[in-house]
Amino acid sequence: MPQKNKALCSIAFLIFTSIIQSCSTSKDTITQNQSFKDGDILVSSGSTFAFGFFSPGNSLNRYVGIWFNTVPEQTVVWVANRDNPIQGTNGSLSIEASGNLVLRDLSNNRLVWSTNISGLAADSYFAQLLDSGNLLLLQGLNQSTSRVNLWQSFDFPTNTLLPYMKLGVNRTSGHQWTLTSWKSRDDPGTGDFQDKLELNSSPPQFFLFQNSEKIWRHGPWREHYLSQLPDTSTGYVFSSSYNESDAEVSLLYGLPDPSILSKVTVNESGFLEFATWQDDQRKWLRFGSFPNDICDYYRQCGAFSVCGPYKSGEFECQCLPGYSPKSERDKHSKNATNGCTNKLTGEQFCGNISSVDVEFIKLTSVKLPDTANAIGNRTMGLEECADLCLKNCSCTAYANAYTDNGGSGCITWYGDLMDMRQLSNAGQDVFYIRVSQSELAQYQKNSKRSESKRLIIILVPSVGGILLLIYSTWLVLLKRKDGQSKADDCTDKKALDLPTFKMSSISAATNSFSLTNKIGEGGFGPVYKAELATGQMIAIKRLSTDSMQGLVEFKNEVILISKLQHRNLVRLLGCCIDGQERMLIYEYMPNKSLDNYIYDGETRKGLNWRMRFNIIIGIARGLVYLHRDSRLRIIHRDLKASNILLDKEMNPKISDFGTARAFKEQQLLAKTIRVVGTHGYMAPEYITRGLYSMKSDVFSFGVLILETVSGKRNRDFHPDQDHNLLGHAWNLWNEGSVDRLIDELMEDQFPALEVERCIQVGLLCVQRRPEDRPTMTTVLSMLDSTNSVLPQPNQPAFSNTLICVENSLNKMRRTNGITLTVLEGR
Ligand SMILES: *[C@@H]1O[C@H](CO)[C@@H](O)[C@H](O)[C@H]1NC(C)=O
Ligand SMILES: *[C@@H]1O[C@H](CO)[C@@H](O)[C@H](O)[C@H]1NC(C)=O
Ligand SMILES: *[C@@H]1O[C@H](CO)[C@@H](O)[C@H](O)[C@H]1NC(C)=O
Ligand SMILES: *[C@@H]1O[C@H](CO)[C@@H](O)[C@H](O)[C@H]1NC(C)=O
Ligand SMILES: *[C@@H]1O[C@H](CO)[C@@H](O)[C@H](O)[C@H]1NC(C)=O
Ligand SMILES: *[C@@H]1O[C@H](CO)[C@@H](O)[C@H](O)[C@H]1NC(C)=O
Ligand SMILES: *[C@@H]1O[C@H](CO)[C@@H](O)[C@H](O)[C@H]1NC(C)=O
Ligand SMILES: *[C@@H]1O[C@H](CO)[C@@H](O)[C@H](O)[C@H]1NC(C)=O
Ligand SMILES: *[C@@H]1O[C@H](CO)[C@@H](O)[C@H](O)[C@H]1NC(C)=O
Ligand SMILES: *[C@@H]1O[C@H](CO)[C@@H](O)[C@H](O)[C@H]1NC(C)=O
Ligand SMILES: *[C@@H]1O[C@H](CO)[C@@H](O)[C@H](O)[C@H]1NC(C)=O
Repeated sequence: MPQKNKALCSIAFLIFTSIIQSCSTSKDTITQNQSFKDGDILVSSGSTFAFGFFSPGNSLNRYVGIWFNTVPEQTVVWVANRDNPIQGTNGSLSIEASGNLVLRDLSNNRLVWSTNISGLAADSYFAQLLDSGNLLLLQGLNQSTSRVNLWQSFDFPTNTLLPYMKLGVNRTSGHQWTLTSWKSRDDPGTGDFQDKLELNSSPPQFFLFQNSEKIWRHGPWREHYLSQLPDTSTGYVFSSSYNESDAEVSLLYGLPDPSILSKVTVNESGFLEFATWQDDQRKWLRFGSFPNDICDYYRQCGAFSVCGPYKSGEFECQCLPGYSPKSERDKHSKNATNGCTNKLTGEQFCGNISSVDVEFIKLTSVKLPDTANAIGNRTMGLEECADLCLKNCSCTAYANAYTDNGGSGCITWYGDLMDMRQLSNAGQDVFYIRVSQSELAQYQKNSKRSESKRLIIILVPSVGGILLLIYSTWLVLLKRKDGQSKADDCTDKKALDLPTFKMSSISAATNSFSLTNKIGEGGFGPVYKAELATGQMIAIKRLSTDSMQGLVEFKNEVILISKLQHRNLVRLLGCCIDGQERMLIYEYMPNKSLDNYIYDGETRKGLNWRMRFNIIIGIARGLVYLHRDSRLRIIHRDLKASNILLDKEMNPKISDFGTARAFKEQQLLAKTIRVVGTHGYMAPEYITRGLYSMKSDVFSFGVLILETVSGKRNRDFHPDQDHNLLGHAWNLWNEGSVDRLIDELMEDQFPALEVERCIQVGLLCVQRRPEDRPTMTTVLSMLDSTNSVLPQPNQPAFSNTLICVENSLNKMRRTNGITLTVLEGR
């Protein structure tokens, strides 16, 4: 007891001294001949991180580590001596004669921990804590002399990954970056769970391990996104980046807004957790964690079977199309837990390339199989890939790898396909499995009978064009029949009092939805142009039949837009519901959407200032109507150039209400779990906290103004790598030279003051704090009147920051070149 009291006393003393310490000194370096004692603290230059001695949870052991300096609850992100604690407060760190940073217990002069680099020259060294949370050992006397980075804590992660910290392997040195859980809240020692790269599969895969057993396989890492992560797939909250080269395989993540504190942790109960610090709630908010449900666990189902759908603890394994349960007994119960098989084997399965028996089926919304028995090729294209798979009898599937949608890269699988699950984010993972035509036909029949069309199938035109044609006609016929037998929900339609169109007239008008009539891809499906028998031009938005999300958005759009009428909103003429088909019919906009003008050099020239101003004002009027004047208060949530359609006279019309939300009269703010929208247009509070309000639309509108004036796309425009369009505009504003933002392709004659006023309004709209942004009503009056004095804008959100990881990678590449990479993400 007395011993414990004594220790508690000394801890209390420590806390006291560390408070004193952090008030008086807040240096971020340890230099040679200077000892760093228990109680001393380093604070990074921006005060984000602190480094020093600490005791975790209820433990009295002393450890050296890095933690978030501004977060009230102790949040340690790195520990030096995780498996070698110090008892008592006699620990001391110093840069010893060897040049290494060494931790000793002075009670017995025991060596506790060391950066342990051999062969450092007799020179001067110092350690520095960066604002990214990275502790560096540098060569030189002080910060202003040369900085050769000899060692960095980012290379030795413990249980936490911070932005721009890598997970993976350095292929040159063989060094692995892994995350390993703590033993418990009170003990940062090496725990049972580890997240690391497994190199002997191709392409390499990241796994969460419990000791040596795999418990979760990460989704397929692509260059600019990873699927299966909350919101990352669309690059919203955590954007991640995967790099596979001869020198390294690595994964890192970043945040669009670096002022937000975030972390990815392997926790003690075996989950990979993504969290951000919520200042207002004063707690860490979990954005997601893996494994997330039963189907996430590794190899939950057998070969050739897919896990899901799952509901509260139950799961189901389903055979891939063309496959059936392995054992005779299971065949009757259709139980695919033990795996599935394709009846045909060997030669038969292989087929004869010149005959048409072998076919590939495209699967979407399924997690790509384990690549343990696959071969990846970073340069091969999809067609060549298909060919490769077709020619090799043991190839069971292929997929496009590494690049999003249709780029280069090929994975071919041989033998069993394992560890697949259904995904809810449709359309991102696509792969093609080999089946025989006869098996496929069998499958179609069965699945029709059992109505279990959960896997989405699209036949790929690889061989047998004629057969395909017959087959797809058959499918269409099938679909028609299905439609007739199902009760259609015309009730919605009737309640809404919308004019209806006949399927036959729509079909005739679009030449049976021919590709030549297709003019684009909307929120939930393709858009066709058509001419009715009356000569009226219409645009038809057709809901993809396989999209659940689409159905939700479709209904949303019908409900909202049918109640709205304004000259700056696109007009809904009616709808067409026929069997499974759902279509919305709009007035046709011959000049397409704004993005066709403002980003494109040639067409941009034709857009003079009057037209641009007219477009800006028109959008503002449409938004005022949505926010204030319509019967409902409506937040559009996905305002962007491609959703602004232009009529014959180039009048703007806001379209795409699939993600819009109606607010009750009094409601001003709402929160959503699912952040939808488009990168580059979304307000910071919406991206990071899911909060949306009229002010999030105002933010998007501000981006639109700046884009329209400058002819540049916010997302892609990085004049000097560190700034996007908003940052660029802000810089020019501060230099008093906003005229340089004006599109150089715009014809000369324009009232400079009016343009600059527009830019100022744009900057007011993109201010970081929603409460600083004007309402749309104010915006409209600012634009309309030329003599009122406008307030001065504050710095916009996302201005001096790296808006996406790709960008920061560029930056890293530039700072690179010395021994190790110096990371200064924040
Ligand atoms: C550290 O101390 C040693 C011996 O006292 C001295 O030779 C050396 O110059 C000192 N280094 C620095 C950087 O002050
Ligand atoms: C720390 O070291 C001093 C001698 O260097 C010793 O007297 C003291 O007891 C030590 N304290 C602890 C807690 O070990
Ligand atoms: C330092 O590295 C050597 C080999 O490189 C290793 O044998 C030794 O255990 C390490 N020492 C510490 C304190 O990590
Ligand atoms: C850094 O070291 C150099 C010599 O190595 C010295 O000239 C300079 O004054 C030092 N700067 C600071 C800020 O101490
Ligand atoms: C990988 O290791 C090599 C050799 O040690 C080193 O030169 C290189 O900088 C390392 N790369 C990274 C990204 O750490
Ligand atoms: C991937 O890593 C290699 C080697 O470290 C580097 O040269 C390359 O630029 C990186 N690629 C990206 C996209 O960051
Ligand atoms: C680990 O993460 C999971 C999932 O986020 C959570 O349920 C669990 O409570 C966490 N465990 C600890 C010890 O934090
Ligand atoms: C499917 O088979 C597995 C293993 O044989 C068994 O545990 C499970 O209960 C079966 N499921 C059903 C629905 O029969
Ligand atoms: C493939 O089919 C073609 C035409 O049916 C036939 O001439 C050829 O011999 C077959 N090849 C093999 C390897 O069976
Ligand atoms: C990958 O494909 C390319 C061309 O498609 C080929 O030249 C190259 O040899 C392949 N690489 C491997 C490792 O098979
Ligand atoms: C098919 O691919 C596998 C795996 O790469 C290889 O071992 C086998 O030799 C190939 N077979 C043929 C006929 O090319």
